[in-house]
Amino acid sequence: MSSSTRRRSLSGIKPTGLPHWGNYFGMIEPAIGLANDCESFYFIADYHALTTVRDAEALRRDSRGVAATLIACGLDPNDSVIWRQSDVPEVLELTWMLSCVTGYGLMERAHVFKDARAHDREVNFGVVSYPALMAADILLFDSDVVPVGKDQVQHLEMARDMAGYANTQFFKTAGVDDEGMWDGRSLKRPAAWVQKQAAIVPGLDGQKMSKSYDNHIPVFASKKQLRKRIMAIKTDSAPLEEPKDPTTCKVFELYCLFTDQAQQDELAARYRAGGFGYGHAKLALLDVAHERFGPMHERFEALMADQERLEGILQQGADRASVVARGVIDRVRDATGLPLRR
Ligand code: ADP
Ligand code: TRP
Repeated sequence: MSSSTRRRSLSGIKPTGLPHWGNYFGMIEPAIGLANDCESFYFIADYHALTTVRDAEALRRDSRGVAATLIACGLDPNDSVIWRQSDVPEVLELTWMLSCVTGYGLMERAHVFKDARAHDREVNFGVVSYPALMAADILLFDSDVVPVGKDQVQHLEMARDMAGYANTQFFKTAGVDDEGMWDGRSLKRPAAWVQKQAAIVPGLDGQKMSKSYDNHIPVFASKKQLRKRIMAIKTDSAPLEEPKDPTTCKVFELYCLFTDQAQQDELAARYRAGGFGYGHAKLALLDVAHERFGPMHERFEALMADQERLEGILQQGADRASVVARGVIDRVRDATGLPLRR
C-alpha cells in the first residue's frame, strides 16, 4: 500500500512521569502493533501535562523520557513520526476553532472535569478545555485509528462530535459521501482502538493503574524495585495450602498480559491445585515482567544517555508532523474565512 492510502494511527501520552504498565499495555503495545499496517503518529502531550505539572525541569526530563520509552519499546523513529506536542503549535489554533463550535455543556460532561469537581480539585480552565485540545491533536492529522485505554474512549467520542460540529458549521458538509467515506476536504472522524485484554490494567490496589493514584508499576525499574512493587500487589488472605481462584486474582490478571495461553493455563492449574501461595505467583509475574522489559530497559538507558540524538529524533518528528498539520490548518482557515498563511 502506498503511504498516502495507508490508514494513519495516532496517540499521545502525557509526560507527567515515566510510563507504567497501564500505559504500556493500554497504549504503547497496541501502537507498536498498529505500526506495521498504519502510518504511525505518536506524540508527547506536554501541553496537556501543563494542567498539572509545575516543575519545568521535570517536564523537560519526562518529555524526553517518554519519547525514549516509546522508542525503547519498539517504535522505530525512522518509520513512525514521534514528536513533542508543543513543537507543532498549530494544535492550539485548531483547539480554538473547535472551541468556537462546541457547547459548554459537552465540556461539562467530560469525566476529567466531573471527576475534578467531585473530588473538589482545582478546575483550571485548561482542565475544562482539555477535550478540545485532545480533539485538535487527533483531527489535526487526519487520523484514522487512535489506540488508547478505555478511560480515553469518552474523549475520542467528543473528538468525533467536535469534528461533526466543525464540518456542519464551517465546512457546511456532513463530512462523508453517500457511502459513508470521508469527503477529503473536511475534518476526518477517527475510531478508537481499545485493546480488549488491556482496556483497564489494574494497579497495586486493584483500581485502574495510574500515576495519579500512586498504584503503578513503572515499565523501567531495576529488578529490585520491580520486586518491591510486585510484592505490594493486594491479594486476599487465603493460606498457602488452600486452592485459589486465578480469575479473581489481580496478580494473575497482570501475568496474563505478558504470557500466552499455555503459560496462563499452567499457572491457573497451580493456583487451583493448592500449596501455591500468592508470593509464588508474584515471583512468576516478576520473572515474565523482567524478561519482557529488561532488554527494553537497556535500550532506554542508552537513549537517555544520548540526549542529543533524542532531541534530533524529536525535531525530525516535529518537522514531519508540521507538514501534515499546516495542510489541515489551511483547510480549516479557508472554511472559516480566516486568511491563509503565506
Ligand atoms: P495516567 O492515567 O497514568 O496519567 P496517561 O493519562 O498519560 O496515564 O495515559 C496515557 C495512555 O495510557 C492513554 O491511552 C491511557 O488510556 C492509557 N492508560 C493509562 N492508564 C491505563 C490503564 N490502567 N489501563 C489501560 N490503559 C491505560
Ligand atoms: N488525554 C490522553 C491521556 O490522558 C493523552 C492524549 C492527549 C491523547 N492527546 C491525545 C491520546 C490524542 C490519544 C489521542 O491519556
